Amino acid sequence: MFNINNILRENIKRLVPYSSARDEYQGEASVFLDANENAFGSPLEQSYNRYPDPLQIEVKKRLSGIKGVPIRNIFLGNGSDEAIDILYRSFCNPGVDNVILVPPTYGMYQVSANINDVAIRNVPLTADFQLNLEGIAEAIDKHTKMIFVCSPNNPTGNSINRADVETLLANFEGLVVVDEAYINFSRQRSFIQELTEYGNLVVLQTLSKAWGLAGLRVGMAFASEEIIEVMNKVKPPYNINEASQQLALQALANIEQVNAWIKETLIQRDKLVLGLKNFEFVEDIYPSDANFILVKTADPKGIYNYLVQQGIIVRDRSKVELCAGCLRVTIGTPAENEILLNTLQDYK
Ligand SMILES: Cc1ncc(COP(=O)(O)O)c(C=O)c1O
Repeated sequence: MFNINNILRENIKRLVPYSSARDEYQGEASVFLDANENAFGSPLEQSYNRYPDPLQIEVKKRLSGIKGVPIRNIFLGNGSDEAIDILYRSFCNPGVDNVILVPPTYGMYQVSANINDVAIRNVPLTADFQLNLEGIAEAIDKHTKMIFVCSPNNPTGNSINRADVETLLANFEGLVVVDEAYINFSRQRSFIQELTEYGNLVVLQTLSKAWGLAGLRVGMAFASEEIIEVMNKVKPPYNINEASQQLALQALANIEQVNAWIKETLIQRDKLVLGLKNFEFVEDIYPSDANFILVKTADPKGIYNYLVQQGIIVRDRSKVELCAGCLRVTIGTPAENEILLNTLQDYK
């Protein structure tokens, strides 16, 4: 059985979190002389002289309505990258604990592990980009605190078999972190609905992809109340700035626009795949549940450099495990995709 106390770091159990000025009073107030802010305002049209809500309650209320998850089960980070880092800092003892990564996958799980001096046990995906459950079972020991599963996976684009993730959730006594950054583009449903079933589940999502707000840096973690409490204790007090909170709140009221873009992205994804298949140098295009495709080519470096010369940037993933020959291409606007296809016509 999963028990958070078995995996939480001792120093985090004992941690007394920073108490901000606004945490320390109750009731209504109109004169705030407690936080050493500039009482006059900001040298801008809009004022940002007050510290933002540390727990971002208004944004979470709206997210709660959209996602069907209570506020107490939502953590907001400065991008989901911050949530990843906070998970390491909360649960992994530097120099002692380890995590399981399943490459090829999103690079920040590794970078964050390295920053936090946490050992990595790599269990590569199978040739069809699915979990090697036996390999994972063998790699787990008493110091294994987390397994990161990215679904749909970056850079391969496919979703991970649901039953395999459920096997991990049911059997692993640490955290299973399911990164759903690209879930809005996927045919599979989110794991968010499984939060009541599995105490060791953390689902990561972000406003950076389908929601079109990468510049605001707002990421989400959904998990049990006890995990969210730990993450809130460990995070910097004001980790989402006031401008980002206000703009996220406005954007979250505009879900129709986002849904229309998602639909268009899926249409464009199919079109781009069809277009790319015509080129001799394209050897394979892997099925994608995301807003990008992984394209296997005969000459990744040559094509990459040619495109750069033409002012088009794709991601060269050819040095990544299981991705020899591969370029990762984000689905652009119809005009951008057309420019890409037209430009490739002239590639020799
Ligand atoms: C799988 C995955 N997770 C997380 C992130 C980071 O998201 P954020 O912008 O919320 O930090 C990315 C960004 O590319 C990603 O591909």
